Amino acid sequence: MKDSLESLRGEIAARVGRFSNEQEIDQLRVEYLGRKGKLTLMLRSLKEVPVKERPKIGNQLNRLRSYLEEQIETGLKELRVREKERLLREERIDISLPGSRLERGSIHPITLMMDEIIDVFLGMGFEIARGPDIEDDYHNFEALNIPKDHPARDMQDTFFVTDGRLLRTHTSPVQIRVMETRQPPLQIIAPGAVYRHDDDSTHSPIFHQVEGFMVDHHITFRDLKGVLTHFLHQIFQKEIKVRFRPSFFPFTEPSAEVDIECLLCSGKGSPSAQQSCRVCKGSGWLEILGSGMIDPSVFQFVGYSPEKFSGFAFGMGVERIAMLKFRIEDIRLFFQNDIRFLRQFR
Ligand code: DAH
Repeated sequence: MKDSLESLRGEIAARVGRFSNEQEIDQLRVEYLGRKGKLTLMLRSLKEVPVKERPKIGNQLNRLRSYLEEQIETGLKELRVREKERLLREERIDISLPGSRLERGSIHPITLMMDEIIDVFLGMGFEIARGPDIEDDYHNFEALNIPKDHPARDMQDTFFVTDGRLLRTHTSPVQIRVMETRQPPLQIIAPGAVYRHDDDSTHSPIFHQVEGFMVDHHITFRDLKGVLTHFLHQIFQKEIKVRFRPSFFPFTEPSAEVDIECLLCSGKGSPSAQQSCRVCKGSGWLEILGSGMIDPSVFQFVGYSPEKFSGFAFGMGVERIAMLKFRIEDIRLFFQNDIRFLRQFR
């Protein structure tokens, strides 16, 4: 017994010290202190030792066990300290490195254009009204003097929803909704999305319009010309030429389409003798919006007396104005949301 105690002590002394990982320590613990560990077994066989020597050997075995337990304990502590130091070393952060730049979004060009248009009208005392995107036939057509079977319905290929409802094809129904609930004087713009069954490089199934109208006693075509000329001078450039060309809309009489001189060829129509301007197709003019004096039959639909009140109205496509202003040739670019396109409008 004495001999095996000596050799065990030697073995243990050789195994403790610097451990390289926790498994090594666990292994040591099992090998000596486990249920069938060498030290455990020796402690258990103490009863076979003659009584006289038992206390002394017992004492030595116990001291050996305490020693081993202490060694294991400090070994574990050391390992953890070393691990922590390693992490601190490897995960060091260089706080002097420049940070990575935060991506900053930009405002969509249609929103920019819309805000700019709205701003000019707010400056002239207009207020903003809105209506529903899902409309009924009455507000989108009937009350705007576009009866069933009227050929003007064909120009606006309509998306129909259930229950006779539809996606509004223009913002003009907001005129009706405002006049149904309020009395003149009115000076309103109605911006928003509109929908038509149409899809090519200059037409999108969803696009945006800004509608406007003004109703009071004695509103004349001169007011219309004044407001729209000022608006176009603000949006494009002060000196740009504007023309009012006779046209037809069921909800206005008389009606006018409003043109500005071509932004590319400055109204010349052809940059050289051989070719005509790509943007205005040689006419020298660009069509910008539709307008007119509100038709008396529209007033009747909303219960206004055409004898007492008169007014003008207009409607414009936001994408079209943005395309002319920013020289964009395909309307679909606005809706594809290619980040390289959108970034240009910061
Ligand atoms: N609603 C017409 C369209 O979508 C635009 C328009 C023309 C509106 C003349 C008006 C107007 O208010 O007076 O094509």
